[in-house]
Amino acid sequence: MKQADIVKQRKGVRTQDGDGVSLTRVFGGNSARDLDPFLMLDEFGSSDPEDYKGGFPPHPHRGFQTVTYMLKGKMEHTDHLGNVGLLEDGGLQWMNAGQGIIHSEMPKQTEGTMWGFQLWVNLPSHKKMSSAWYKDIPSDQIPILEENGITFKVLAGEHKGVKGALYDTESPTYLDIELCKNSAYQMELQPEQTHLLYVFVGEMTVNTTKVSTGELVQVANGDFVHLNSKNGARFLVISGTPLQEPVVQYGPFVMNTEAEIHQAISDYNNGTLAQVADAK
Ligand code: CO
Repeated sequence: MKQADIVKQRKGVRTQDGDGVSLTRVFGGNSARDLDPFLMLDEFGSSDPEDYKGGFPPHPHRGFQTVTYMLKGKMEHTDHLGNVGLLEDGGLQWMNAGQGIIHSEMPKQTEGTMWGFQLWVNLPSHKKMSSAWYKDIPSDQIPILEENGITFKVLAGEHKGVKGALYDTESPTYLDIELCKNSAYQMELQPEQTHLLYVFVGEMTVNTTKVSTGELVQVANGDFVHLNSKNGARFLVISGTPLQEPVVQYGPFVMNTEAEIHQAISDYNNGTLAQVADAK
């Protein structure tokens, strides 16, 4: 057993996306190329409706999966397959864009706090043109584990033998962990995977390094890390096996080659990006 090192520590940048939605891009675009298989992580959080009321009107995706985890708020998803889903406090939405999806994500609230995350997970080349699908997972279907004052929500993958709300052999592990005051936890890691920890409440120590709210760390080269928190902390753990394939991104299209990107753009312009006939 070897203790893993922190190989990266960074803060997100404030930006806007969709129709004027203010958010923090924790990573994304070229700054994420070394976080394979993860492409992007956004945190949106505001109690000012001006920051979120525009939402994300209809837009396409191809070649990867989007995962939206809502801590607080109400957002409605609709897509060209006819899916309509309401994402609410603590709920999770997992969408396989595959060969193409056109969807919108619009707030269903005009006041109060909206707070959550969107993660983009890349697909291996053989799944980039798979049929699109969408899963709505309400908070009461997310397994929760409590141990020594530490709460684990297993959103995806597996943790301590508990299978997540989304589980298949290729899904990443996605956890929401809350450390209570004066708690310590040794987290085991699979050394071949990419492991990201993002603190969104409080402050904790990873091995001997202080990690505060809004900071992301990548840990690698070992089997475990020591986590502890004096005043409590809540953080995401995102782990996945690197695809080690070329990544060519143009906005909402993420493929392996320039030619595939040109194809995606022309399919979108021709109205053939998202084909209902291929949908399950
Ligand atoms: Co989208």
